[in-house]
Amino acid sequence: MRIPDRTSDRLRRIQSLTGMIPLGVFLIEHISVNALALGGPEHFRRAAAALGGIPMLAAIEVAGIALPLVIHSMIGILIATELPERGSREWPSRREILQRATGLLLLPYLIYHVWATRLSPDVLKHGADLFDVMHRQVSGAGGIVFHATGVILAAWHLGNGLPGFAERWGFARTPPLARAAARVGGVMSLALAIAGVAALIAFATATPRLVLAPSGDAAQSISRGAKMQRGPGPALPPAPPRPVAPAAARATP
Ligand code: HEM
Repeated sequence: MRIPDRTSDRLRRIQSLTGMIPLGVFLIEHISVNALALGGPEHFRRAAAALGGIPMLAAIEVAGIALPLVIHSMIGILIATELPERGSREWPSRREILQRATGLLLLPYLIYHVWATRLSPDVLKHGADLFDVMHRQVSGAGGIVFHATGVILAAWHLGNGLPGFAERWGFARTPPLARAAARVGGVMSLALAIAGVAALIAFATATPRLVLAPSGDAAQSISRGAKMQRGPGPALPPAPPRPVAPAAARATP
């Protein structure tokens, strides 16, 4: 029985291109910027503020990241749930199965992560600082395991996808080139996973900057310089001397 081919070659090429060019490049940039948190919150905030100064950032994010992610994910779901033609020898390879499984598992994490860091009321309405948002999210054991799983899945998915991409676009025509692409992909996965998890540990262990609220009865963490990677925002008054805050108030604003 012939099972109709839902994903044409053209769709597969679009999926491949969106996976590597905007999304792959973005993932490398995103993990690299997050890794700056290893140098302390202000290091991360300065880089975030510089990125926030890019003109028309919101439009670039929508056209260059959100849209390709939606397209890539939709075609990805089609491919991952497609049945091979009965009797066909062309069952997916181990690498393809891994690629599909990591993509499907990654999807719910990405939806949550985009909501929590971009679209939640805390961020959109109250302009919460990204460092503090991440600090809160990874402070508990469950939070850090959840985020580490998402980061490792994303790193694995990109590195494991590199040889497929290289083959599809004619960069790995010979077996030695294909092996080289697989090795580069493996190293890429490992490096991104290590950098990403190290950044999560830095988010978890750093103490957010604290000031006393005007009423003096609560401690709040505030963002200085960088608001959500969207621009420097209004000038802040000089930092007051650091108050001694109760340990319980330190983790949550
Ligand atoms: C950080 C986000 C993502 C990046 C950087 C990314 C990157 C890639 C790359 C580079 C490939 C290899 C393309 C090729 O073989 O030519 C790929 C394939 C694939 N991706 Fe993603 N992807 C991401 C998110 C997702 C999501 C959310 C899904 C959800 C379904 C998904 C599903 C797939 C599938 C099923 C394939 C394999 C396609 C095939 O077997 O031909 N990806 N991805």
